[in-house]
Amino acid sequence: MQPAADHVSKERLWQRLMAMARHGATSAGGVNRQALSAEDIAARRELIDWGAQLGLIAHADDAGNLFLRLQGRDPDAAPVLSGSHLDSQPNGGRFDGVYGVLAALEAVQAIQESGQPHARSIEIVAWMNEEGSRFAPGMMGSSAYAGAASLAQLLAVRDAKGISVATALREVDASLPTLPRRALGRPVAAYVEAHIEQGPLLERHGFSVGVVSGMQGKRTFRVTIAGEPAHAGTSLRAERKDALLAATATIQALAAALHDREDVVKFTVGRLEVKPNAPSVVAGEVVFSIDLRHPDAGTLTELGDKIAGICARAAQPCAAQVEELVSAVPLQFPASMRDLVRASAADLGLPTMDLLSAAGHDARYLNDICPTAMIFVPCKDGVSHNEAESATPEDLYDGTRVLAQALLALAQ
Ligand code: GLV
Ligand code: MN
Ligand code: MN
Repeated sequence: MQPAADHVSKERLWQRLMAMARHGATSAGGVNRQALSAEDIAARRELIDWGAQLGLIAHADDAGNLFLRLQGRDPDAAPVLSGSHLDSQPNGGRFDGVYGVLAALEAVQAIQESGQPHARSIEIVAWMNEEGSRFAPGMMGSSAYAGAASLAQLLAVRDAKGISVATALREVDASLPTLPRRALGRPVAAYVEAHIEQGPLLERHGFSVGVVSGMQGKRTFRVTIAGEPAHAGTSLRAERKDALLAATATIQALAAALHDREDVVKFTVGRLEVKPNAPSVVAGEVVFSIDLRHPDAGTLTELGDKIAGICARAAQPCAAQVEELVSAVPLQFPASMRDLVRASAADLGLPTMDLLSAAGHDARYLNDICPTAMIFVPCKDGVSHNEAESATPEDLYDGTRVLAQALLALAQ
């Protein structure tokens, strides 16, 4: 019997990636496939169809996660899961997330074709709303699955048009074939997620496969600056409460405080909403996002805890309200799972490099409930969350072969 990894097809994987990239394709060569959108529904339909062609059994859960199951010899044993997400940022690339889902599909097909027996079932999973762009925060599906977030609270989150996650999920369900339901938190034997690195290290050091040691921590906040709308021509400067001026001063104060020479602290304000957003009205309210990341738990706590005080001072004469959305500590994946990925690559003659994930992934929440690992492959110049995101068929293939080897070992 040929090893399962020998059945991984570089061409098939690439063709599926390019087919998926049509759902939400942008004119600049990227993808805009935000969570639970029509494009996301089309991508889900395509994935279900591909699974059906292989005889995989599709399931859904109440958080909008989608599973495709290759049955093992012991159907009652907890399955091995592998996947990532199909949703993208508004200016996303063709590989972030979708690679992990399609690498899992390719690995499962290779295992199936190899005829290698496995006791545990292997399931491909597409987690709902990893990116957190249309509906914040992200990683909704995986955090609900792992019990780290309340599904009821996530279902109530609304997008900019006022559509709730619950409504959008009903739309998804109505648009797809009815799938059998799975309970959230169903036991998982192990989880392995393949992903592009989204940073430059593997490419710079010449490795096609990275063993992810862990993930840096992240805290996200929503800041509301309350001012007073006023006439741009008639209101006196001394009496204005200009929420936009206060917000820009606050953001500058935050950027100065949440900064280190070494560029380890990552502070980003990526979204600003101005009300009423009219040229001749002094802004009455501004809402902005904060994404703060650091690999050290103590530093992340210390820096994040400064935010409310900085906002209160810098926003005057306006009032600042700071709401924390996510507090995710830095984590390490278990040594046994890292060793398994390294050994799987070594079996295939592929050298690997260990590296920390600076980006967030659904693997964060799976790591709370089962042994978890991640496999990284390089992307061009480390560019991601950008339509120019690019990866080579060869590197994507290497990562998928390692994934197939690791999944089979876990399922046997
Ligand atoms: C995930 O998309 C992240 O922003 O880290
Ligand atoms: Mn991703
Ligand atoms: Mn992303």
